[in-house]
Amino acid sequence: MTNKKTNANYGPDKVRGIFAYLFGLSGIINILALTGAFYMLQIYDRALTSGSVSTLVALSVLAIGLYLFQGIFDILRSQILIRLGARLDQQLAPLAHTVSIEMPRYGYSTSEAMERGRDVDTLRAFLSSQGPIALFDLPWMPIYLAFVWLLHPMLGLLTIGGAIVLGLITLIAELMTRRSAQSMIKASVTRNSVADSNARNADILHAMGITARAVERFEIANRQHLESQTRTSDISATLSGLSKVLRMMLQSAILGLGAYLAIQGDMSAGAIIASSIVTARALAPVDQVIAQWKGFVSARRSNRRLAETLAVIKDKSGLVELPTPSQSLVVDNITTVAPATGAVLLSEASFELTAGQALGLIGPSGGGKTTLARSILGIWPLLRGSVRIDGADLSQWNEDFYCRHVGYLPQEVALMEGTIADNISRFAKVPDARMIISAARAAGIHEMVVHLRDGYQTELGPHGTALSAGQRQRIGLARALYGDPFLVVLDEPNSNLDAEGEEALTQAIASVRRRNGIVVIVAHRPSALQAVDMVGVVQAGRLVAFGPKDQVLQPNKARPVVVERAAPMERPARSLVAE
Ligand SMILES: Nc1ncnc2c1ncn2[C@@H]1O[C@H](COP(=O)(O)OP(=O)(O)O)[C@@H](O)[C@H]1O
Ligand SMILES: [Mg+2]
Repeated sequence: MTNKKTNANYGPDKVRGIFAYLFGLSGIINILALTGAFYMLQIYDRALTSGSVSTLVALSVLAIGLYLFQGIFDILRSQILIRLGARLDQQLAPLAHTVSIEMPRYGYSTSEAMERGRDVDTLRAFLSSQGPIALFDLPWMPIYLAFVWLLHPMLGLLTIGGAIVLGLITLIAELMTRRSAQSMIKASVTRNSVADSNARNADILHAMGITARAVERFEIANRQHLESQTRTSDISATLSGLSKVLRMMLQSAILGLGAYLAIQGDMSAGAIIASSIVTARALAPVDQVIAQWKGFVSARRSNRRLAETLAVIKDKSGLVELPTPSQSLVVDNITTVAPATGAVLLSEASFELTAGQALGLIGPSGGGKTTLARSILGIWPLLRGSVRIDGADLSQWNEDFYCRHVGYLPQEVALMEGTIADNISRFAKVPDARMIISAARAAGIHEMVVHLRDGYQTELGPHGTALSAGQRQRIGLARALYGDPFLVVLDEPNSNLDAEGEEALTQAIASVRRRNGIVVIVAHRPSALQAVDMVGVVQAGRLVAFGPKDQVLQPNKARPVVVERAAPMERPARSLVAE
């Protein structure tokens, strides 16, 4: 919701304005940087020749003043860059984090997502390094060249030639590091993925004695990462060493040429030293740019990727707040593809539920039940078709709509780091104790929670590990029921439940129906179907049957048969599928 605002703050116009200002400031700094050379010239050619101490004093006072100004402007420039970096970070980090949260939904690994989140850090680090300062100084090089040229055109030519050679080295650095930097990033993502997956499966690794193998897998990935890193660093170190040597040679060559010109009587002694000082200053940014090239390349890439990333975030701030839903859920001919691969997982599913109805989705494993549940909630994008609540397509639901009117219990219950109360109340800023307790009661977990030492304030730790699987599932159920949402989607909520838990689930579904909500429940075990009135069969990525429970589940047939062999029912129920 704040996306739009922050985007506008970090408007390219504003940043461009600051850059123009910094460019101007750099111009002043670079002109002031000629102070030393002028001072030298004046001393040699005026003070010394005239032998006037007062001239010397006046020149010195002037030079000190100019030096001070240069220092102040230099500090000012660094401070602006540091602040620009910090402000950029402040505004973009939450957005980049939003993207890291969104990306795994589309099939990206968490390390890839985190990598995107780090783009902001990279950008900020570059802005507060010497890199941008060198880039701002570089365009002002002609000032120095002109100065040297005025001293003697030969010196000018030599400096220009040196600058061109150094520039070429920069170009070579760019071309050579580009590819290896890319493979370095890829290797780093792979390494982090392996590390991440190993850490998350610590139990399995230990129980089955495969820790050593997991470490080996990490080691291989790590070695690749190190290799590509070494290659990249090698290239930039070599080129930066080369440029340093060249620069020193150029420096001496200028001195030598100056001396030659002085011997020939074409130049004064002061000019030799002045030209030496000025060329040193002229070439410094080139040197800096080469040294900072790596940082510049990664900042540029981060900037580009960040722009891409920010474009992905849908700005939902303009969405009109929808009224509290009370009538229907319509799934209209939806087709869903796997976000990562593009494979069709569910095709042309249609059905309609009205307030007070509960739909049980059954079918063989891998049939597409979870996919259907995810599609209804907009977790996975739809290729075709639409999902509407009270006529409003899910593209019109904003965050707040989801938070207030949708409850979801995923197949793999994921609780978050925080207390039980935090988790049930969905991290509400002002949790409503009454609502938390009523949701916990509805999920049949209130007694269990109050018997814990810290009750609702019990810290769950990462992934809710402080609880058993069944307890986690019921807290997840309470979270789905919190705030009496209109649409409650439960994906195999009974997979870890005991008889008592299943009874609570049945009661919960019944109570959502009583208050005119809609429930969609994916059921692996038929015991969860007690409180539903509609049943859908999902098989091989299609909704092959949909209708009232007693029609779809033909009476007098063993229930497991219905679940395992849904195909025979396809014909009688087909007419009920809304198409
Ligand atoms: N993230 C994913 N990317 C690609 N395919 C997936 C993904 N998740 C599930 N699938 C595939 O989609 C099909 C349906 O899966 P799912 O909806 O989870 O089945 P169910 O919940 O009925 O057991 C399966 O063939 C599964 O391999
Ligand atoms: Mg499933």
